[in-house]
Amino acid sequence: MTGISIRSANIEDAQLIADFHVKVWRHTYRNLAPAEAYAALDEQRRGKQWKEKLSSNDSHQIVLIAEIDNRIVGIGAAGGPSELIFDGRGEIKFLYVDPDFKRRGIGRELLVQLAIHLRKMHYQGAALSVVKGNEPAIAFYEALNGRPAGEYVDPGPIWRSQNIVFAWDDLASLIA
Ligand SMILES: CC(C)(COP(=O)(O)OP(=O)(O)OC[C@H]1O[C@@H](n2cnc3c(N)ncnc32)[C@H](O)[C@@H]1OP(=O)(O)O)[C@@H](O)C(=O)NCCC(=O)NCCS
Repeated sequence: MTGISIRSANIEDAQLIADFHVKVWRHTYRNLAPAEAYAALDEQRRGKQWKEKLSSNDSHQIVLIAEIDNRIVGIGAAGGPSELIFDGRGEIKFLYVDPDFKRRGIGRELLVQLAIHLRKMHYQGAALSVVKGNEPAIAFYEALNGRPAGEYVDPGPIWRSQNIVFAWDDLASLIA
C-alpha cells in the first residue's frame, strides 16, 4: 500500500470514476459479459450513473477512490442493500482495482474502509454479489473470509447475469 491514498469521492470525480469503471469492467468481463452489455455499458452511461450517485444525499452511501500520484488505481462503493437476498446487510456495491496495481492490498483496504463505514451506519454485516465465473474476485472474497450465501439473477435490463452472494455476518471479521 506504499504511496497509495484513499479518499471519499465527490461529484467532480464522477466522469473520472466512470472512465476507470468502464476500463476495469471491460477488462474483467470481456470473456463473461454478452457483447450487448459490453457495448452498452460505456463511459457516457456510466458517467450519468456516477453523477447521479455522487449527487445523492443518502448518508448510507459511500464512494471511495484509491489514488497513487493523483491517478485512480481503485474505486469502492457501499450502501444500503438493493436486493432481498442481502438480508438487511450493508451492500458492497462496487470494488474495482486497476489490473496494473492488483495484489498490492488495495482491494482489501478499500473493502475494510467500506466495512468501517457500514459499521458506522449501524449495519451488523456486509454482503455483495459477484458474477459467476469471475474467479479472481471469488478467490479474493474467499481469502477475506466471505461466506457464500446464495445465488440470484441480476434483474437487468442490460445483463441478466448469474451471481453468487458473499456475506460477512459480523463486520468485525472483515475489519480485523
Ligand atoms: C478482486 C479485486 C478487487 C482484488 O483486489 P486486489 O487489490 O488485487 O486484492 P488484494 O491485493 O487486496 O488481495 C488480498 C488477498 O486476496 C486474495 N486474492 C486477491 N486476488 C486474488 C486472485 N486473483 N487469486 C487468488 N487470490 C486472490 C489473496 O489472498 C490476496 O492476498 P495476497 O496477495 O497477500 O496473497 C481486483 O482484482 C479487481 O478489481 N478485479 C477486477 C474487478 C472485479 O472483479 N471486482 C469485483 C467485482 S464483484
